[in-house]
Amino acid sequence: MPKSGYDNTLSAMRTLLAVAAVMSVALTAAPQPPGKPTVTRTPTQIDVDGKRIEVFTLTNAAGVEVTAMTYGAIILSWKTPDRTGKSTDIVLGFEDPARYLKGDSPYFGAIVGRYGNRIGGARFVLDGKPYALAANDGPNHLHGGKRGFDKVIWDGEPVKDSRGVSVAFTRTSPDGEEGYPGALTMRVTYTLTPKNELIVDYLATTDKPTVVNLTQHSYFNLAGDGDILGHELRINADRYTPVDKTLIPTGELAPVEGTPFDFRKPMRIGARVASEHPQMQFGRGYDHNWVLARAGAGLSVAAELYEPSSGRSLQVSTTEPGLQFYSGNFLDGTLTGKGNRVYKHRNGLCLETQHFPDSPNKASFPTTVLRPGEKYRTQTVFVTGVR
Ligand code: GAL
Repeated sequence: MPKSGYDNTLSAMRTLLAVAAVMSVALTAAPQPPGKPTVTRTPTQIDVDGKRIEVFTLTNAAGVEVTAMTYGAIILSWKTPDRTGKSTDIVLGFEDPARYLKGDSPYFGAIVGRYGNRIGGARFVLDGKPYALAANDGPNHLHGGKRGFDKVIWDGEPVKDSRGVSVAFTRTSPDGEEGYPGALTMRVTYTLTPKNELIVDYLATTDKPTVVNLTQHSYFNLAGDGDILGHELRINADRYTPVDKTLIPTGELAPVEGTPFDFRKPMRIGARVASEHPQMQFGRGYDHNWVLARAGAGLSVAAELYEPSSGRSLQVSTTEPGLQFYSGNFLDGTLTGKGNRVYKHRNGLCLETQHFPDSPNKASFPTTVLRPGEKYRTQTVFVTGVR
């Protein structure tokens, strides 16, 4: 059939868009006038499963720079100015992308999945069928198993986005990977906006019923160094999900009132981290899921973090129902990261937006089941600033 004028115009437009996309990548690799938002793409010399690891750098006019790579969709660095304008990297990790292949990173900067956090007893039943997963955290399954999404290579591509500069990471997790049913096709996009937001958009579809819970596992330190005990944190939640001694939720939604979990007003993290509260013993500090207070669906503020010495702030908003606040309790000085810094106890903290841990085994929790024909679509927005 001859092509209509409409088809021809469409195909000409597609060609133009493709050329423009390639040009913008090529052009931005050259020195830019100060203040111009850029996205650069740099191949490394490292191959994983026959694919080269690539590194993408997003910058905006306000001097924020975020670097991420195709291995694990890991955020390698996130540089932001302090209140005097001095730029520092506010996330923990390694300088050399190859260092992550050693397999001992505690999920620094990664996209965690297919199920972020724990599934009790490393098993679940879906539509009457039992599924067995790797028990990689005592009796439980943690962060997607032995080789979760943090330890595989994704495809990366700069994308045009009216909101800012963007990189999209895509991957299909095969049916049966780490014991999960269904091939899961994913797209995770990092977009840096002129307003210093880093927008993380998650999209996934499946060809069989499955469970999904994706999160971003950056370890923040708004001072750039030292421990995070002086950081002030507010969490927009009246309730949290208490856990047993293996960190699996009991199913209860307990009030934060009168406990060290009450962050409804900004509190220094160090103020109650050594509390005798039994829940704090289980977590060896904060390692819990908060039930976010929200007025309906959509994006709502989950947490606000502030570091008085640097003046840096971080606001986290999300469409997710929960937030895991992990105070870096398992960091023990055995890992040396960027700038030869030894990562000691509580030198970084994670604010992981998510569905509640062990939801596949808790009928009363919001569901994490994804079925063919449905779209898994969540969004989390991190905004950095100074006060
Ligand atoms: C957190 C989790 C912690 C720990 C950490 C990685 O997301 O809540 O219990 O597993 O990841 O070391």
